[in-house]
Amino acid sequence: MLKILTVVGARPQFIKAAAISHTIRQSFAGRVGEDLLHTGQHYDDAMSARFFRELDIPAPRYNLGVGSGSHGTQTAAMLKGVEDVLLAERYDAVLVYGDTNSTLAGALAAAKLGVPVMHVEAGLRSFNRSMPEELNRVLTDHASSLLFAPTLTAVQNLRNEGFRSEMIVHSGDVMFDNVLRYAPVAKSHDPGGNEDILLTVHRNFNTDAPQRLTTILSGVEAAASALGATVLFPVHPRTRQHLESMAFKCIHFVEPLSYLETLAVLRRVRLVMTDSGGLQKEAFFSSRPCVVLRDETEWTELVDCGAAALSGASRDSIVSCAKAMWNVVPASIGDFGDGHAAEAVLDSILRAI
Ligand code: UD1
Repeated sequence: MLKILTVVGARPQFIKAAAISHTIRQSFAGRVGEDLLHTGQHYDDAMSARFFRELDIPAPRYNLGVGSGSHGTQTAAMLKGVEDVLLAERYDAVLVYGDTNSTLAGALAAAKLGVPVMHVEAGLRSFNRSMPEELNRVLTDHASSLLFAPTLTAVQNLRNEGFRSEMIVHSGDVMFDNVLRYAPVAKSHDPGGNEDILLTVHRNFNTDAPQRLTTILSGVEAAASALGATVLFPVHPRTRQHLESMAFKCIHFVEPLSYLETLAVLRRVRLVMTDSGGLQKEAFFSSRPCVVLRDETEWTELVDCGAAALSGASRDSIVSCAKAMWNVVPASIGDFGDGHAAEAVLDSILRAI
């Protein structure tokens, strides 16, 4: 039986890991065994344990308890922790997701020890090297043995960087698998309320410059007021630190939502405004238009098909994008796979190792 160590640490990774862990239990039991390693990058109940409970993800076998810190401190502690585990126990492969510090640490520790790295959500590029996530995803791809690209754009990005085609698997997107799986049960998880817009802001470049965060929120407030709308704003802990003295008429601040609550809210809002990569896609999978509070996106398909608009952080642009997207109903495009990305990933790993 193939033995995989899956390294997770941040909220979006728990969601992605749920898709693969379920598929292992459902269709690959006896052929693939999985241990989870939680780096501890996210540790609040609302950012971590709640996702394990709600999505029935197996308890991590290892928890490094690394917590928050500067990038170097956090990544170094994870690197050492993952290496210790890989030295103590033999694994055939290490599976990592996305682009966080936990992703990079897992990939680097494994690659240095000669353990093959499998990267799910490979090939995404913003082409903005000032983003920590861009460095993490580029470096992780280059430390990996198999690259699971969710979209054809991601496949092309990898080809452009010279990866051999045998290393690239166009798997589809495990987040699309998840939306298909969980949307029917999410309905009963609506936290209540009647807001028309779902807002999230957590990227360091948007939260850590106080003026930029204020401009974004006043742009959202102005857009909501012009549209006669109200806004639900689940606040990430990074953002919370910067919001203390702010209050807005149309924007309702709440604690972070669970995954199923998010899917339920997506069914009833009319517009999503976010700087999150995952939520851009979940909006699209739920046929909701999206204003991306950034200057660029890795998910260029969404902008190309008219489902998302890039507003940056200018107040006027946020208002005009919100107005322009208000009546849009995105049509589905087949770019994110057929809802069986997790099977494609596991089949390819079994064939490769
Ligand atoms: C990380 C990822 C980002 C991803 C995001 C999802 C990196 C470089 N960034 O960003 O790509 O989109 O996760 O949420 O890995 N904090 C808490 N409780 C927690 C976790 C964090 O209070 O459970 C606070 C701490 O003050 C911490 C700050 O949030 O310093 C930032 O957390 P961190 O793990 O550094 O990165 P994220 O901003 O969450």
